[in-house]
Amino acid sequence: RQGIIQSSKMFLVANRLEGKKVESSIRYLSDMEAVFMDKVAFSALDPQQPVYEVDCYFPVADNKSGGLFFGLTRIFPGKVGGEFFMTKGHFHSNNDTAEFYWGIKGKGLLLFMDKTRKVWAEEMTEGSVHYIPGNTAHRVINTGVEMLSFGACWPSDAGHDYGSIEKEGFSARVVEKDGKLIIIEE
Ligand code: 6PG
Ligand code: NI
Repeated sequence: RQGIIQSSKMFLVANRLEGKKVESSIRYLSDMEAVFMDKVAFSALDPQQPVYEVDCYFPVADNKSGGLFFGLTRIFPGKVGGEFFMTKGHFHSNNDTAEFYWGIKGKGLLLFMDKTRKVWAEEMTEGSVHYIPGNTAHRVINTGVEMLSFGACWPSDAGHDYGSIEKEGFSARVVEKDGKLIIIEE
């Protein structure tokens, strides 16, 4: 039958997602004032400095149950004071929805936090695969000196709840001190 083969619409090219339906966004330092601990170091930096970029592919409408979304995130290398650049981090607003992350390039830490504020972390490297259970906040920290890229796949009805992390933060911070990576727990 003619027309049975449809051309693929999405491509991964040099750590970027390309295709007709890609939605890209950039988070700048100015979007992340509440995130970093050292306010003095923060105010000395350029607010227009990009911290991370996200390309998303939404094959179905937001909030539709049964679908999947796909994302690629690239976190720039950098620090505010001793604290590494990272994503804002969030719970899913439809709380009991899970997600996969996988490392593509660079190195970092994936920080998890459950509703009791218990935290744990997994090392993200090229090829690492991470399952984020439901009811668990997730944030990625670029602990390296190059761009950290990772992929994500999550249910289309997951939604994002940034509010509680914006207010309360995670109960652990990842910083470099005297050339060593340390995790400060609250
Ligand atoms: C999601 C994913 C992922 C995430 C980005 C940016 O649920 O959409 O976890 O695509 O949104 O890595 O991180 P923040 O959403 O925390 O800014
Ligand atoms: Ni998520």
